[in-house]
Amino acid sequence: MHQPNDTALTIRDVHSFARPEEAVIKHLSLDLTVNFDTRTLSGRATLDIAAAPDADTLLLDTRGLSIERVMLDGEESPASFILGPEVQYLGQKLAVPLTPQTKQVTIHYHTGPEAAALQWLTPQQTAGKKHPFLFTQSQAILARTWVPVQDSPGVRFTYDATVRVPKDLLALMSAGNPQQRNSEGVYQFRMEQPIPAYLLALSVGDVTFAPAGSRTGVYAEPVTLKAAAYEFAETEKMLEAAERLYGKYAWDRYDLIVLPPSFPFGGMENPRLTFATPTILAGDRSLTSLVAHELAHSWSGNLVTNQTWNDFWLNEGFTVYFERRIMEELYGRDYAQMLEVLGHQDLVQTVQDFGKDSPDTQLKLNLAGRDPDDGVSDIAYEKGNAFLLRLESVVGRRKWDEFVKGYFNTFAFQSMNTEQFLDYLKKELPQAYRQVDVPAWVYGRGLPADAIRVKSTRFEEVEKAALALKMGNQPTQEYTKNWSAHEWLHFVRLLPETMTPTQMTQLDKAFRFTESGNNELLAAWLLPAVRNRYEPAYPALENFLVTVGRRKFLVPLYNELTKTPEGRKRAAAIYRKARPNYHSVATGTLDQLLKEKG
Ligand code: BES
Ligand code: ZN
Repeated sequence: MHQPNDTALTIRDVHSFARPEEAVIKHLSLDLTVNFDTRTLSGRATLDIAAAPDADTLLLDTRGLSIERVMLDGEESPASFILGPEVQYLGQKLAVPLTPQTKQVTIHYHTGPEAAALQWLTPQQTAGKKHPFLFTQSQAILARTWVPVQDSPGVRFTYDATVRVPKDLLALMSAGNPQQRNSEGVYQFRMEQPIPAYLLALSVGDVTFAPAGSRTGVYAEPVTLKAAAYEFAETEKMLEAAERLYGKYAWDRYDLIVLPPSFPFGGMENPRLTFATPTILAGDRSLTSLVAHELAHSWSGNLVTNQTWNDFWLNEGFTVYFERRIMEELYGRDYAQMLEVLGHQDLVQTVQDFGKDSPDTQLKLNLAGRDPDDGVSDIAYEKGNAFLLRLESVVGRRKWDEFVKGYFNTFAFQSMNTEQFLDYLKKELPQAYRQVDVPAWVYGRGLPADAIRVKSTRFEEVEKAALALKMGNQPTQEYTKNWSAHEWLHFVRLLPETMTPTQMTQLDKAFRFTESGNNELLAAWLLPAVRNRYEPAYPALENFLVTVGRRKFLVPLYNELTKTPEGRKRAAAIYRKARPNYHSVATGTLDQLLKEKG
């Protein structure tokens, strides 16, 4: 077990070459041209720096970038620089010698063809099929594949950007954004609040805007805009609820953009502009907790940021907790309970998959020498949330809410590591600190026995139906007619391990799972379909895997397929067809999974 480290200042981010205590970026000014033919970004990054008096080098992170030249303080002649050897996951260190007078460093560069943060889509891969599309995904350490920067969550800077794109496309960033195209195809951006590099984001495509409320709105391809505007109509209410809970929103506007289906995540909390998967457009607003989640990151993560990726649970655990509080405000306690129970199931499954003694089940991780992406699991999300629920249960909601609000307020625009958080907790809520075995939760493995078990009243009916099914009685539509997507999801997760073709057919005939327009439910249903070789669902499975790039759905499905020789063959064939549609974040995981198990 690790021991808490109280010398927080000496903590180094093992995933960055930067030495911010010597020379640190304060502002980034980007000037980039987006070229869809060569699939490159090219231009320059100008960095304003603050250096210690004796500092002689600025250290930056890069990966796959071609550095053309480096200029200091707008001088005429190029300065020297050293590009270090390639290190796995981390890329290359860029060292720029400084003089005591240096205030500004300009790097002329272009991105490589395989830049991991960038996904270049052909028109065919978009909803409208007419225009190409580009989007970035910088978290966790991919910003360095498109900007030479100090790519560490403990380093914050403001930024501005000029971005040149084809005239028929609109550029958007994690910054103040335009609401319509201009005739030049040149867009200016400013982000006045300091952010860490993993929140740098750019999207370029044929998108249009629709307002949701006075501070909120949605961008989407024209053919998707109406559905998106309907689905996200409650965003303004979420923003208001979030502010009532934990204080004023610090980022001016909150907009969403619906990306093409290859986006590897459900959502990404890029400041002022959440990036979202189209797979949450269910038509009935049933999957909007994802919006609450990304919105909640405007406090937990974007305002108070994990200092290193070992502290990732601080970002995600708080965000899951906050997300469910927002949903409770809007839709009531019984709704939030359903989310809580589904999340708890994910947690139990994840602990089981890792093994309860695995170090990957600790909240505080040690990712040295590993890809920080390995730390992205339901441990950070759901064990993090479970820890916070446990603390809340000791002090009561009123006191807990005061604490959380104070935490966001006190550490706004700063980074926070696990030990600093625990110190603050001990100081502000000594009673909770004493009553809960905090080290066991944070540095221990598996799920502590004192975890709160949330019960869902709405799920009781579902559990009865699932039990009846086990006894051979199919639930009637009469019984299920008021079920929401969450009840259905719970039901599908409760299906018996093995089912006969007749049982599968009967269920599907009654409830039409294979045709479900709700991707969350469809993905859940496809698991028993694969497990029980329910062939009528195979075309839907293949179609889903070829069009959707969301890693959370892909991994369990491919994993289930690889459990039989026949399934492995089908997985390989589908993957060959689907892989060109996936983002590098997804192929990174799947290449490995299919190599190991395929
Ligand atoms: N910040 C994450 C996505 C992420 C994490 C990207 C780590 C890269 C590295 C985002 O807020 C997130 O958690 N998305 C979830 C949705 C959420 C409702 C749990 C997702 O994409 O599934
Ligand atoms: Zn998140």
